[in-house]
Amino acid sequence: MCAGIFTNCRNCPIAKSLILFQRRCCANRFLFPLLPHIRERQKAEAAVIKKSQELETALEELKQAQLQMIQSKKTSALGNLVSGIGHEMNNPLGLISASIEQAKPTIANIIEHLQLYQESLTNKSNEIIDYAEEIDLDYSLEDLPKIIDSMTIAWDRLKNISTSLSTFSRADKDYQVSFNIHEGIDSTLLILKHRLKANQHRPGIEVITNYGDLPKIYCFPGQLNQVFMNIIANAIDALDESNTGLSFAEIEVNPNRIKITTSMENQGVKISLADNGQGMNQEVKAKIFDHLFTTKDVGKGTGLGLAIARQIIEHKHGGNLYVTSTPREGTELTIVLPLESTISITSLKCHYFK
Ligand SMILES: Nc1ncnc2c1ncn2[C@@H]1O[C@H](COP(=O)(O)OP(=O)(O)O)[C@@H](O)[C@H]1O
Ligand SMILES: [Mg+2]
Repeated sequence: MCAGIFTNCRNCPIAKSLILFQRRCCANRFLFPLLPHIRERQKAEAAVIKKSQELETALEELKQAQLQMIQSKKTSALGNLVSGIGHEMNNPLGLISASIEQAKPTIANIIEHLQLYQESLTNKSNEIIDYAEEIDLDYSLEDLPKIIDSMTIAWDRLKNISTSLSTFSRADKDYQVSFNIHEGIDSTLLILKHRLKANQHRPGIEVITNYGDLPKIYCFPGQLNQVFMNIIANAIDALDESNTGLSFAEIEVNPNRIKITTSMENQGVKISLADNGQGMNQEVKAKIFDHLFTTKDVGKGTGLGLAIARQIIEHKHGGNLYVTSTPREGTELTIVLPLESTISITSLKCHYFK
């Protein structure tokens, strides 16, 4: 079998090949029976990986569906309440407005008539003179038109509140409608006014709006207002948190501030909402859009605000929502929205509830 070319068998290539062959045969004798088991195990592993991927997708879809349900339930409950108040305010407001308009010329006529009497009545009785002094007639005649003007201003303010309530609580249709983003932001600020005002712990929060020249955009206005609400409410929480340990006077020196800027960006609009609150570290920043993530106390935070905001902006409007933040300096949330999104609510419904 061996030609005997090499004197030392160890260096002979034929002997080497034979040894290798022998070793493989030996290994295969043990491996061959195991092969079907290995293949089955690999198949089972692949099936488990596929299943867990499917479960992950299902879980994500479930979370999104839950967010959508909470959001629409919350929006519709709040929307019903707010639009109900706005609606109830409208009738008495109309009545007040009509009455003021009617009273103005009537009062002017009565004043003029009284003045004519005063001029033509040369011999006034003591009773008339005393009574005029008692009621301070001159002052009252001067003051009455001012009282009417104040009533008109107050009515005007109430009318604005009523309009803002209706803007804020606009019930969304299942198609997008043209909407003035600035009206949405203003109406949200009005709803949050009680939280922005000064209180015994801090001066009022300065809100600076720097609005660009924006066209109306096609969107779901009620949902966008919900996003503004969630982001501004978070900014107020962050500012309140940053005030911990500071006196009223110290906060006055470096006032709490929320700056809202809008501008055109490529084929869409950009809305930036920045606060000079406590900011956040990298770890928190990475999780803020996660479902149920909150750093707030139980009962104060739900961890749903920004998850819902992202769903509305990105899934329902095809836009973008991102954050930049520096600890102890502040946070900026930026929304970029297309002028007209191509996402239709019907396709979303199919996606979430398939
Ligand atoms: N403007 C902000 N400044 C600092 N942290 C913020 C700000 N906005 C959001 N966060 C952080 O993101 C978390 C998640 O916010 P959100 O989803 O609205 O839930 P929640 O407000 O209920 O906690 C907050 O708990 C907070 O830690
Ligand atoms: Mg929140």
